[in-house]
Amino acid sequence: MTCPVLSTRITDAHEAAQYIQPGDNVGMSGFTGAGYPKAVPAALAERARRAHESGEDFRIGLWTGASTAPQTDGVLARAHAIATRLPYNSDPTLREQINAGEVDYVDAHLSHSAQHMWFGFYGRLDVAVIEVTAVLPEGLLVPGSSVGNNKTWLDQADKVILEVNHWQPREFEGFHDIYRGTALPPHRRPIQMTEPLERIGEPYLVVDPDKVVAVVETDEPDEGAAFSPPDEVSRAIADHALDFLRAEVRAGRVPPDLLPLQSGVGNVANAVLQGLDGSEFTDLVAYTEVLQDGMLDLLDSGTLRAASTASFGLSRAGMERFHAGIDRYKGRILLRSEEISNHPELIRRLGVIAMNGMIEADIYGNVNSTHVMGSAVMNGIGGSGDFARNAFLNFFLSPSTAKGGAISTIVPMVSHVDHTEHDVHVLVTEQGLADLRGLSPKARAARIIDHCAHPDFRDRLRDYHERAWGARPTARHTPHLLDEALSWHQRYLETGRM
Ligand code: COA
Repeated sequence: MTCPVLSTRITDAHEAAQYIQPGDNVGMSGFTGAGYPKAVPAALAERARRAHESGEDFRIGLWTGASTAPQTDGVLARAHAIATRLPYNSDPTLREQINAGEVDYVDAHLSHSAQHMWFGFYGRLDVAVIEVTAVLPEGLLVPGSSVGNNKTWLDQADKVILEVNHWQPREFEGFHDIYRGTALPPHRRPIQMTEPLERIGEPYLVVDPDKVVAVVETDEPDEGAAFSPPDEVSRAIADHALDFLRAEVRAGRVPPDLLPLQSGVGNVANAVLQGLDGSEFTDLVAYTEVLQDGMLDLLDSGTLRAASTASFGLSRAGMERFHAGIDRYKGRILLRSEEISNHPELIRRLGVIAMNGMIEADIYGNVNSTHVMGSAVMNGIGGSGDFARNAFLNFFLSPSTAKGGAISTIVPMVSHVDHTEHDVHVLVTEQGLADLRGLSPKARAARIIDHCAHPDFRDRLRDYHERAWGARPTARHTPHLLDEALSWHQRYLETGRM
């Protein structure tokens, strides 16, 4: 702490939490289990619990970069302290409360979350609670293991609480690139970035010292989620995706060092990254929003030259590896705000190859990433729409079945649409890969069923498609038998595992 002004505001988490009132909108740092505040949320949860015991309603609107961790979402959800949440959640307790109707959830494209705030769509931001690595004079802040929406929350909030986490390595200074040139329409100008690792901003966040009401010091690690080691299914998915990329290189559509890679959250996406390791691909670059363990492996092996991201979605072991070798990664990893990491203009210009998980896809290529049975949210759309819609090439990846084989992830009609048939390029399951580019709905259906569906469901899907075609001779573009299509989703209930 080298800021003489802000060092006078040091206090403990309980005092700091007093600055947050029931009904406030609170913008916290945090993106995929990295860089979230560690102390103030627990103090706030305790305050809310006490308020509830004395019959008061104490709930806040919680805004972040994306998912956080049990110490932020989890602790506040268990105290029933969250009334509204945006733009992404993966905490299981909060998920239950959202699906029970107790919490209002605005599941938004991550690239939209900051600008929708500036546009005034979300209302006023009362308090920002932001974890940083260090506080320098004149309100300069060294960011930590995620940037997310921190710039916007710091700029827009009426009051700011800083958590200075001494666990975040001081060597982080220089790893970040904070762009401050965004403007509201009609004053927008092109964002001058043509290479994934190009710097377009400054290494620091900035806060107006007059707005800082409290500074809390912590020394606690990020609790990143661990990944399951790739199994036979995820390895098969990775093999299909890599064979396809090889064919794209041979066809001259993609250069031998590929195009900037984006990889989404989850075990399957992580397995694809692991599949790249030891392959013939080298000198790759990532332009992504989450740097998972698989990407760290690729940076270590040299398969990946460099990565631009908004956050480290690393397991504890991955985090320790990064800290131990932090100097090796300097200049090879750049952390940006999510309005830049996920910016449609930049993803389109750079020609990103996007790889994301899905819950289900239908025979015409519509993809559901977020809702089980069309009703219960799993996590949220996150950055999958930002990347898929604007990518040069997008993949959606999933095992062909879920819940121990009881459910087909290839269905006649998805129960919820996040990515439309017009946006989806390639579907991959362990059964195979369907390249949908340039195909009509009829041809897409044949390819998806033949290549991606599990053999246990293939004949039923073919039979469905044929009967749908025959049923209404005047409705043969994307024909459906609606009652029957929806009955596929009843299988979730039959498994009793929702
Ligand atoms: N029906 C019911 N449940 C399903 C399902 C289906 N068709 N498909 C997957 N699931 C369940 C799995 O059973 C599992 O739940 P469990 O842990 O209770 O068994 C869970 O969803 C995760 O599935 P898994 O196969 O392990 O895949 P994953 O870890 O790769 O996650 C998504 C898949 C879709 C949940 C995940 O990719 C996601 O949240 N995507 C949306 C956000 C996103 O894409 N962000 C990208 C930019 S970072």
